[in-house]
Amino acid sequence: MLRLDFSNVLQEEIGERGLKISEIEECTKRAVSLLSEKKYDELDFINLPYQQVEKVKQIGERVKEYEYFLVLGIGGSALGPRVIMESLSPFHNLKKTPKVFIYDNVDPLTLKQIVEIVDLKKTLINVISKSGSTSETLASFLILWRMVRDRKLRVNEHFVFTTDPEKGNLRRLASEYEIPALEIPRNVVGRYSVLSPVGLLLAEAIGVDSSYLLEGAREVSEKAFSKNIGENPMACLASCLYMIDILRERKIVVFLPYSDRLKTLSEWFCQLWAESLGKDGKGTTPYPSIGTTDQHSQLQLWMEGPEDKVILFLSVDRHGFQEEIPEEFHDIEGLRFLGGHTLEELINTEQLATEMALWMNKKPNLKIILPQIDASTIGQIFQFLQVTTAMAGMLYGVNPFNQPGVELGKRLTYGAMGKRGFETEGEEVKNYLKRNRFII
Ligand code: PA5
Repeated sequence: MLRLDFSNVLQEEIGERGLKISEIEECTKRAVSLLSEKKYDELDFINLPYQQVEKVKQIGERVKEYEYFLVLGIGGSALGPRVIMESLSPFHNLKKTPKVFIYDNVDPLTLKQIVEIVDLKKTLINVISKSGSTSETLASFLILWRMVRDRKLRVNEHFVFTTDPEKGNLRRLASEYEIPALEIPRNVVGRYSVLSPVGLLLAEAIGVDSSYLLEGAREVSEKAFSKNIGENPMACLASCLYMIDILRERKIVVFLPYSDRLKTLSEWFCQLWAESLGKDGKGTTPYPSIGTTDQHSQLQLWMEGPEDKVILFLSVDRHGFQEEIPEEFHDIEGLRFLGGHTLEELINTEQLATEMALWMNKKPNLKIILPQIDASTIGQIFQFLQVTTAMAGMLYGVNPFNQPGVELGKRLTYGAMGKRGFETEGEEVKNYLKRNRFII
């Protein structure tokens, strides 16, 4: 199981900017008690590791018959699948089939380029939407639906839906057109859904056994309710991040994995943390980062800029490849000293040195330690961060599963695009556009 090192947020290590261990212990217990109240049905994501995966595997086998696999979805319906692909099958499209494209943002040119590359006759399109009503996803679905039909292809051979078990537009179309459809359990919401068929089908499609993802996640689920701080790093992390905000006013969480394969995990975590906690004036701002690259870009700010951040490292013990740096140029010290070491040694030493430099400057930082990157540890880290975020929400006293703040923008889009029932919003948009603007 992955581990958490929280030494560098303790007062013993960084003085008064840190936290007392007794406070962390107390808060950890409180986090677990709050979770144990099971106030929200959406906590069902904790049970996802126990689901049956036969149907996912069955459809996964079908996906492998296609040359292209196109995923349409956004937010929680796209970021998780992307992490699975980039962490477990890097450079996938250059090496394997089916070639996978994940289209989330509604950038018109991106879609144009994807449809120029894929041959629709050899493409399976996975439309992922829990609600079945997200404009971005439905717009791209409509475009692809029309293209498939224009080419006289059978829709039930080229589409598979991943959606709510009972409700929504996609569920309705699935039964009307006999489109194969996977279920996102009723109580599981978008950003906590990666371990449902949302992420599992993509895993199977790229040749990753989804059972291993679930096996790893299960180890975390089993510990989520433990009151023993030594067994519950999720509760400890939630408490540290919460208290460093409340008591020390550190309002920015820099998420800093040391592996290219975890770059998109930063984006996934940022959505999870921001959308779950940013409510009622509460929450902290997640900041996606990557080591060692950002040591040459952001570290200066973290070391000497405003005292408003906490750094959350994610280190990887074994990177799975031991490229030794050759011993050359013995008379040039700047090159000589690298010889005989490996790239793994270098990246891990850089992580350690950065953590230590922050510690020497008394900057709070924490570290999640992954032994290696594989399906099991990726399952663990997903569940680890999901449980941590849900607990943090409960400590803040906000509902970590809703997103009321995004509704207004959606309604105004509906109004502007002429959706029935949103005429008032449509008028508001028109009035907004009539206002005097200061544009130079
Ligand atoms: O976490 C969430 O609920 C959201 O970010 C959703 O994932 C996102 O809005 C997409 O929603 P849907 O899956 O219903 O299309």
